[in-house]
Amino acid sequence: MNEPYSPATPRPISSTSPSTMKMFMGFLTVFIVAQMIGTVLFCLYLHMKMDKMEEVLSLNEDYIFLRKVQKCQTAEGQKSTLLDCEKILKGFQDLQCKVHCCWADKDPAEGGGGLPAEKRQPIAAHLAGQKSSKAVSVLEWKTTMYGPTNNAISYQEGKLKVKEAGLYYIYSQVSFCTKAATSAPFTLYIYLYLPMEEDRLLLKGLDTHSTSKSLCDLQSIREGGVFKLREGDMVFVNVTDSTLVNYNHGSTYFGIFKL
Ligand SMILES: *[C@@H]1O[C@H](CO)[C@@H](O)[C@H](O)[C@H]1NC(C)=O
Repeated sequence: MNEPYSPATPRPISSTSPSTMKMFMGFLTVFIVAQMIGTVLFCLYLHMKMDKMEEVLSLNEDYIFLRKVQKCQTAEGQKSTLLDCEKILKGFQDLQCKVHCCWADKDPAEGGGGLPAEKRQPIAAHLAGQKSSKAVSVLEWKTTMYGPTNNAISYQEGKLKVKEAGLYYIYSQVSFCTKAATSAPFTLYIYLYLPMEEDRLLLKGLDTHSTSKSLCDLQSIREGGVFKLREGDMVFVNVTDSTLVNYNHGSTYFGIFKL
């Protein structure tokens, strides 16, 4: 009874098994490939997510730092030993220093420990009188060896122009010869130049002539004051008689500096 079955039974199985096997293998391959693609995509997604998380975490750190700074600025915060206020505030100051360049409260003992490259150049200019052959209505000036100049102050035809608005100390000295014969006082003026309207007088110094009989009595008038200038304002110096001005070294000068 067994004989007719035994050869017959494996036959139908063996005839169907290759196709099912093929199908099964195909499914398996598709499944594995799909899984691989899925895994790769998931890894990619995870990686991107991690990057975002890192960003959020670092922002969170910044936020905590700022909260600490805020707390340290209050009286109770400073008492708290939990916050290392000194360190935190120092860190914050360093950060501020990088943004603006604070050198006002920089410890001089630190010396070069600050930010020498970013140190703000003081805005100042000091010029010496420039002799001119004819009488001029605006005195002219030249730079000197030790007198500072600055990009924020420009010079044109006797006038000093400020780039930044602010408080400025403006000063000038003019030395001049006086002749006994003339009676009108020699006057030194500092004007604010206004292109659209009449120039505004800022400072004025007068000197009446000496009574001595010599041809040239050397005298000086010096004046200076603080003024609020706007961006682009120009100031200049003139005198009643520019032919009397003495241009010896150090005698006649014009300068300005920002407070
Ligand atoms: C000095 O400048 C003022 C203002 O521009 C002007 O009115 C005056 O005439 C000038 N003085 C001389 C002597 O040029």
